[in-house]
Amino acid sequence: MKKILVLFLFSFSLLKAMADEGMWLPMLLGQQVYNDMVKKGLKLTKEQLYSVNKSSLKDAILIFGGGCTGEIVSGEGLIFTNHHCGYSAIANASTVEHNYLQDGFYAYNKDQEIKSDLTVQFLDRIADVTNEVEAAVKGLSWAERTAKMPEVYKSITDKVLDNENGLVGRIYPMFKGNQYIMYVYKSYRDIRLVGAPPETVGKFGGDTDNWEWPRHTGDFSIFRVYAAKDGKPADYSKDNTPLKPKYFLPVSIKGVKDGDYAMIYGYPGGTNRYETSYGIQLKNDIENPSLVNLRDVRLKIMHEQMLKDPAVKLKLASNYASIANYWKFFDGETKQLIKFHTFDQKQAYENKFAEWAKGKAEYEHIFTDYAKNYAEWTPYSKQRQYINEGIMGSPLAAFAGSLIGVEANLLKPGISSADIKKSVDAATAARKKFQSSEDKISDQKIMAQTAMLFYNDIDKSQHPIGFYEGIKNIYGDLKEEQTFKKWATNTFDKTIMLDDARWASFSANPDATVLQADPAFSYAAAFIKNYNLKYAPLYTAFNTNNARLGKSYLKGIMEMNPAAAAKMYPDANFSMRVSFGSVKSYNPRDAVHYDYITTGKGVLEKYIAGDYEFDLPAKQIELMKKKDFGQYIDKARNDLVVDFITTNDITGGNSGSPVIDGSGNLIGLAFDGNYEALSHKIAFDKDLNRTICVDVRYVLWCIDKLGGAKNIISELKLVK
Ligand code: ARG
Repeated sequence: MKKILVLFLFSFSLLKAMADEGMWLPMLLGQQVYNDMVKKGLKLTKEQLYSVNKSSLKDAILIFGGGCTGEIVSGEGLIFTNHHCGYSAIANASTVEHNYLQDGFYAYNKDQEIKSDLTVQFLDRIADVTNEVEAAVKGLSWAERTAKMPEVYKSITDKVLDNENGLVGRIYPMFKGNQYIMYVYKSYRDIRLVGAPPETVGKFGGDTDNWEWPRHTGDFSIFRVYAAKDGKPADYSKDNTPLKPKYFLPVSIKGVKDGDYAMIYGYPGGTNRYETSYGIQLKNDIENPSLVNLRDVRLKIMHEQMLKDPAVKLKLASNYASIANYWKFFDGETKQLIKFHTFDQKQAYENKFAEWAKGKAEYEHIFTDYAKNYAEWTPYSKQRQYINEGIMGSPLAAFAGSLIGVEANLLKPGISSADIKKSVDAATAARKKFQSSEDKISDQKIMAQTAMLFYNDIDKSQHPIGFYEGIKNIYGDLKEEQTFKKWATNTFDKTIMLDDARWASFSANPDATVLQADPAFSYAAAFIKNYNLKYAPLYTAFNTNNARLGKSYLKGIMEMNPAAAAKMYPDANFSMRVSFGSVKSYNPRDAVHYDYITTGKGVLEKYIAGDYEFDLPAKQIELMKKKDFGQYIDKARNDLVVDFITTNDITGGNSGSPVIDGSGNLIGLAFDGNYEALSHKIAFDKDLNRTICVDVRYVLWCIDKLGGAKNIISELKLVK
């Protein structure tokens, strides 16, 4: 009985967004969805959410850096985003003497703001280009179509490219390629650091608390976007002025209550809500566990060195955080997929679909084809996970691997010396970047251990021919860790990549044989070439088939249930979305209730003096003990609210997104998802899914009381 109920609910939810599920396109918001928003508590008109002609809420939202969201909160281009989104910019601005990552930083006037190498992008407009795309690939086979697509995209986006005004177009397939939408972005490149709390606040709880509620993290940082005097995007210059934005968000310090409306705008990176049971099986059996295994090794080695030396910590921190973030995610994702029986539910739905598809030529082959496609690729998928980590996670090997292109140029008949110089100069620039974050001690250990892991874990028939025999002949038994240690030591000692003088003489007189004789290059090249030659084509075929099948499967799902199709949303793909829901407590497991907010009391409870993850600035402890919360206090709790949770449907990429109340005011910044629903990329759970947000009152308290940066507070439009 129970099982039938579950299946029924599932098949329903696959077709139609239920509860607070859904990442909607704000520019194409259906009336039904808008009505649901109003029912939940939205007080704005559709035009105020997104307007083609007037400034609207969407104009305050931006893509921050490579993969986060930010929002404009003042008339002078002030940006709020997460601490973990500004993390590498903060680390780059830091030295051991001026350690802003450790101690925090506030600019008390604009002259103190720090230049970064970030960019931000605003959404200018969108266009549905489905007809144009389809016309350009009409009559082609699926393989031809896939091959031609980049060219088709380029010819369409070239028409809107406008370098002077920083406008670029990008095309996003929606509903697995059943629709194509072009987004035109305006990109700015003079972005300056304005403020960040100490890491003990901005990353309070570290990786122990990451992806978990209850949480007590002040995950925010502050930047400003600058433009040329005429408002156009420009390279960094002292003469640039703060951007006058089209729109900025007022900030409400009225506080949140259980059940309040909450809306989140932003750039969710990727979901696969229409993933098949085959995909889930591959993920759970091979992809996630092998990645977790591999990252385990790297993280332990890196952490050990970071603890020993503050300079190494600054070098590795940002990279470490991103490896750790998805190490925990992939582990948790599989645990939750198993807990929710997602595989069984998908399979039950697929059986229903197959039943419906019988006799329909367009659809009846889909699941036999899926089965064949997965069976063909699965034996090689683990190797791909290893190679995909960037020569298994050794930065030296990854850099060495990037020189395969240089080698190819050096061997190209008739290539001009100017082109060779260009290619070698680019490698020298890449080497500089690699060196700026290279820690030899940890890297050498990573190289030894991961090369050994590959040897033990990947089917021998897939090893690069002769590579391990070579190690055995020189360094000894492949079962011994010592063997790999000796090999890695030799590699690090002999490579030209870590030796300035030898690199300089190579670049003055580039010769392929020097690369080929280099132990780091020959290691990386052996594995990458082996993969590229034998396995990459299989992966491309696997992906191409999946894309073709996915498109028909989704089309079939919509045909099977046309009523529900009206309320379907496309998978996240880093295009702008809005999601709506409410502030809400939950019960993570039997007999356990989680409150919807956390407070200063909990911060002090978690505090561990001197701890890597749970330490606190002395001033914070003092002010929190005194309850010196000023206008940011939550009167009902007589405390400072730190974080809160909502039912919103978001994912990675949404980090830094504004959490907005029913009247359009900023109430918090989304920064995480909860552990109990970590399978959210594949299936949204209507009971357990939560978005974790830092309360904007905590953000302002940190800026004002801890940081003393009243200049920032006075720039905001506060709603009290
Ligand atoms: N889980 C967060 C996200 O993906 C990132 C949190 C960063 N903090 C950390 N402790 N690694 O958005």
